[in-house]
Amino acid sequence: MTTVKFATDSPYKQEKQQHHITDFKYKEFLVGSGQVKSNNKEVPEHLKVINVALFAFGRAGSIHLTNIMKNSRLHLTYLVESDREKLESVQKEWSLPDSVLLSPQQDHKVFSDPSVHGIIIATPTYLHKDLVTRGLKARKAVFCEKPIADDLEDTRMCYQLAKEMKQPLLCAFNRRFDPSFCQLRQKVQAGEVGQVHLVKTVARDCPLPSIEYIKVSGGLYHDCAVHDIDLVCWVLGEYPTHVFATASAFIPEIAALNDHDTIGFTMKFASGTISMTDISRNAVYGYDQRLEVFGPKGMVSSSNERPYPLVTSNVHGTSEPPLHYSFPSRYCQGYINELNHFCDVVQGVSEVSIPGDNTLKVTKIASALAQSAATGQMVEMVY
Ligand SMILES: NC(=O)c1ccc[n+]([C@@H]2O[C@H](COP(=O)([O-])OP(=O)(O)OC[C@H]3O[C@@H](n4cnc5c(N)ncnc54)[C@H](O)[C@@H]3O)[C@@H](O)[C@H]2O)c1
Repeated sequence: MTTVKFATDSPYKQEKQQHHITDFKYKEFLVGSGQVKSNNKEVPEHLKVINVALFAFGRAGSIHLTNIMKNSRLHLTYLVESDREKLESVQKEWSLPDSVLLSPQQDHKVFSDPSVHGIIIATPTYLHKDLVTRGLKARKAVFCEKPIADDLEDTRMCYQLAKEMKQPLLCAFNRRFDPSFCQLRQKVQAGEVGQVHLVKTVARDCPLPSIEYIKVSGGLYHDCAVHDIDLVCWVLGEYPTHVFATASAFIPEIAALNDHDTIGFTMKFASGTISMTDISRNAVYGYDQRLEVFGPKGMVSSSNERPYPLVTSNVHGTSEPPLHYSFPSRYCQGYINELNHFCDVVQGVSEVSIPGDNTLKVTKIASALAQSAATGQMVEMVY
């Protein structure tokens, strides 16, 4: 009876309970069921359904294709892919009409079709600049996988063109759209850990990408480190003044390409904050993605996710399912959210949340890290 003093009124007589802000799936349910509005802006009639062309159906392209097909705001007008067999398999899976499927030789149809509002680029990186340029010149909104181009000058040119053409250019830094990272950033920016002293990120890829992919990836700095650089700067709201990196190639085939499979890097910020990141191309235990922010008031961290929360205990100990195998499953919600952000931008509901200036700085930092690893020196950033 000692706890009887805590007895309360019937829950029916109390204020109705609301879902917690972190339950984004419940929020989706409320929007879908018409109980909450998805946004307060009126979308022009001709943009209620956005016609898009998707370039490439590889690892990244297939994530986007699935999300396009499941998004009622999007209509797939064209899919451009150089591999005929892939096109045929995807046509069967999604019952796509013949008119949708194009080879790269036919891709002029995309740019001359006035009904196409936007293009989504998921080709190998070396093709990005050309497609971004053609898309913007044809006055299409552009969503492009990272990186926007192979180097800084081409990236700058793409954003300049976007400005001239008055078209959005969204660089797909998908980690910014991950619900856990978004919540972590909000807490950091609300001062929950106080002034940030340390940030740590871990990004270990799984499975090891094919050597064909690595050959055209643009190298570990511009292919992988850009994600962590962007993530750290986005969480902190500042860019580093000094960076230092060291890198190794343990895998002979990667060493033969003069690339690396392992990097450790540090960034120092004007505020005094220090960040540390480690990256590997090959984590055998799953896609290892962690983010931790530490300050005088405490720590906020986003740890690894697993497909489901099953725990098995026996005489040998306790086990859980392995981590998500790779990026399509780990960042599943982030890819959906970034595509929805692109829809918001095209429909005029939102501004592009990743400014060109940010992407240019991230590209510069990635190059400075490569320079640091090559020279063994810390590099001072000049933006
Ligand atoms: N944001 C992310 O999480 C993420 C993850 C993976 C890859 N990426 C980026 O996506 C891009 C593609 O990477 P991927 O892993 O999907 O590569 P991939 O090798 O799996 O796929 C590339 C696809 O492009 C097709 N292709 C080649 N030339 C083409 C052309 N001219 N027109 C149309 N299709 C063409 C290939 O046949 C292949 O299907 C890269 O820029 C990479 O940096 C981003």
